[in-house]
Order: sequence, then C-alpha cells, then structure tokens
Amino acid sequence: MNVLLIGSGGREHAMAWKIAQSSLLDSLWVVPGNPGMVRHGRIAEVDINDHKALRRFLLEKSIRIVVVGPEGPLVEGLHDRIADDPQLAGQVTVIGPRKEAAQLEGSKDFAKEFMFRHNIPTAAHRTFVKGQLQDAVEHLERMSSPYVIKADGLAAGKGVVITSDRKEATAVIKGMLDGSSFGAAGERVVIEQFLNGVELSAFLITDGEAFKMLPAAKDYKRLGDGDSGPNTGGMGAVSPVPFADKEFMQKVHDRIAAPTIRGLRKDGIAYSGFLFMGLMNVNGEPYVIEYNVRMGDPETEAVLPRLRSDLLDLFEGIATGTLSERHVDVDDRTAVTIVMASEGYPGKVVTGRAIGGLELVREAYVFHAGTAEKDGQLVTAGGRVLAVTAFGKDLEQAIASAYRSASLIDFEGKVMRTDIGHDLVRMRTPKGAQQQA
Ligand code: AMP
Ligand code: GLY
Repeated sequence: MNVLLIGSGGREHAMAWKIAQSSLLDSLWVVPGNPGMVRHGRIAEVDINDHKALRRFLLEKSIRIVVVGPEGPLVEGLHDRIADDPQLAGQVTVIGPRKEAAQLEGSKDFAKEFMFRHNIPTAAHRTFVKGQLQDAVEHLERMSSPYVIKADGLAAGKGVVITSDRKEATAVIKGMLDGSSFGAAGERVVIEQFLNGVELSAFLITDGEAFKMLPAAKDYKRLGDGDSGPNTGGMGAVSPVPFADKEFMQKVHDRIAAPTIRGLRKDGIAYSGFLFMGLMNVNGEPYVIEYNVRMGDPETEAVLPRLRSDLLDLFEGIATGTLSERHVDVDDRTAVTIVMASEGYPGKVVTGRAIGGLELVREAYVFHAGTAEKDGQLVTAGGRVLAVTAFGKDLEQAIASAYRSASLIDFEGKVMRTDIGHDLVRMRTPKGAQQQA
C-alpha cells in the first residue's frame, strides 16, 4: 500500500515512524515533512492546494491512503476535493473527515449544538453574534464567574479566555464580536459554564460505522512548571492517564464516543479518521470541552508508541469499511513525552540554532517538530523543536527516562518543562487518590 502523509510536526513524525513499521506498506510519502520524517518516507514535491498537481501525484504514485495530520486541510475541504474527484474516488481513502464534519473542530458553536442535540455531556453554553454585545453582557450578569469565552472559529488554540473579572470578560467579547481580536473567527462568541476538574485527551478512530478507542493521554498546555505561564500547543504528554481508569474510560466510551459516532450517523454526516475528545473529569464524570478532528500533538508522540497494532491495518479498515474486524492492541507500559521548544515560544521564536546530542539518546524516541537541516547540521526551525518519548514500567520510571534523554539534547535557548507527569504521581499518593475519588 502506498501512503501520503500530510504535515510536518512531532505528531506527523510519530505517525510516519509508526506507518513505516507496517508490513502492509510499500512506500510512504510525506509533505511537507521534516528532517525526522525523511528517515521513514520520501518528501513528496507537491503543493496539496494545487488540486491538479495533487491528483497527478496521487495517480502517478498509486497512493491508496492520504493521512492528514493537522486540522487545517480538513477544515478547508481536502477530503471533499479528493473524494469528489471522479478520477480519485474509490482509489484514494482520506484519513480525516470531510469539511462538514470538520466543523466539530472548526466551529465551537457547531460542536456545542451537536452535543446538545445528542445528549453528550458538555458545559452549558450560549452563542452570541455581531450586534448582540448587550445580550452577551446581560448574560454574563446572570452567570457566576469564572467566565469562559470562546471565539467560534479556529484561532490556533488562542481563542479561549477564562476570567473572573466581568469587565475583562466584556472587553474580550467586544473585541471578538467587532472582529478586532480574532478576525472572522471571533464574529460568533460562545460563552460557557466553567467546568472544574482535571483535563485529559481521549482518542478514537472510526470508519463512520464502527469505532475503536485509542489510548488516552494527558497534555501539558502551559509553558511553565506547575501549569504557569502562557498556553502553548502542548509541552508534554503522559499515556496512560492514571485517573482515567477502566470505569472512567467506560463512561467515555458509552456517554461520549458512542453517542458521537451515532449522532454523526443520525445527522447524515460521514466521518472517517481520528477524533480527539478533549475532556474534563469533573468528580469522576467526563464532559467534553472540545472536539478535534485529528490526533493531538504532543499526545500522539505518547500514544502511538503504545499502540502495538499495525496503524495501516486500521487505515485499511477505514478504506474498506471493515474497522469493526480490526484490533487495537495496546502496550501497558507508561509513555512520557517531553517537548523541547525554542527561546521565545509560544511567541516569536529564534530559529537556526544548532541542535546537538541526538546521537547520545539510547532509551527514548526523538520525534522532530520544528527542525531543519542546514549544511548538514540539524538546526531549530520552529516553536516546538523536538518531542522525546520514553517508556517506563511505571510512571516514575518513564518520567526519569524521558528526562534523562531530554537532558542529552541541547540547543541554545532550549525551553522545556521539568515537571511533566509530576501531578499524576502526586495524585496517586493515598491522600491524592482520596481527593480524586
Ligand atoms: P478549548 O480551545 O476549547 O480546548 O479551550 C482551551 C482550554 O480552556 C481548555 O484546554 C481548558 O483548559 C479550558 N477550558 C475550555 N472550556 C472550559 C470550560 N468550560 N471550563 C473550564 N475550562 C475550560
Ligand atoms: N495538544 C493539544 C492539541 O493537539 O490540540
């Protein structure tokens, strides 16, 4: 089977690494790819936005599966373009949903209405549009703080403001509705009830009929230790999540995953690919914070190393509508991922700095995110630079191993959290466990 993988981050490197292990693979192409991904596949010199060129490439290389890593191309309708092209239909399967379904991520209002319609637990909300600032302000007056305010559209993870200050909340809503803070993405604003709990990321893969749960992970979104500093794309991940035990994951399966797939079918919305359920555990009950129509980054870098099954076998299950017959087999060990970022991240970053020490890493996987090769030297080329994943027989050992490996890699201005997973170790102490229960 020939595969084209779209993307260039740590998530896509982990996918390329995993796909390359498949006995079903003939050749793997990546676009735009990164220096880590080229160890597993060849760079496809094709502009995916130029449909004629993309069609020619897919036909010439007899590509059977197109895997879309990030949400952008899905929200823009890449799946539709391929599936609706008479020359490609039936030949090429896209792992990732059509544009209509991608609104689960692309529009918070669409996602909230969907959950409401299908009785999927989520925070109560109301949506306001241009001209409704006064209504939104009156709504805030009736709510208790903190206020959760979200721009409806894609805002690169920055469109959510949580504040207890009503004046600030009002200013944020005003800025969104008049288009000054998030452009078109903020012209609809969702105001939500605040959910107090611990977050985790759950994942499934589906052909639209059957679905299989993948391992869950915890992501560390803030830049600094102790969850301080600004929000980022994610600074680390742990899988499995100790508090997401069998009982909790059964609730996720029954109350969230199954009704979501059923709801999509009921609404006549075709869905194939990954679904990321961003959840809040509120006293042992799962609530959906958000859907994403892709895998998480850096969660993928902790989840895929734990997947024993052949990922291409699952993709083939999607292509042939036989996912129900495939198996997801998972390694019980804990995987911990540490992200190394550039100086200045998540703001403006300095790039082009030489990266050293990769060859010293023996006990971990190193996934490339923002790297480039310059005159034979690996250099930094983005915000998040590398993701290091290590296994351990328990959480403590996985953390220690991941940090041992991360400390071997160096570049000027390297930024990384030193406490990935520590909260989960604390939670498992008898006192913490009681608090959790
Ligand atoms: P989102 O972009 O919807 O994932 O929101 C970004 C972050 O805001 C989430 O990861 C949560 O930490 C937080 N958040 C979003 N919605 C809520 C909510 N209703 N209650 C508490 N925290 C929330
Ligand atoms: N790590 C969170 C995300 O991928 O959205």
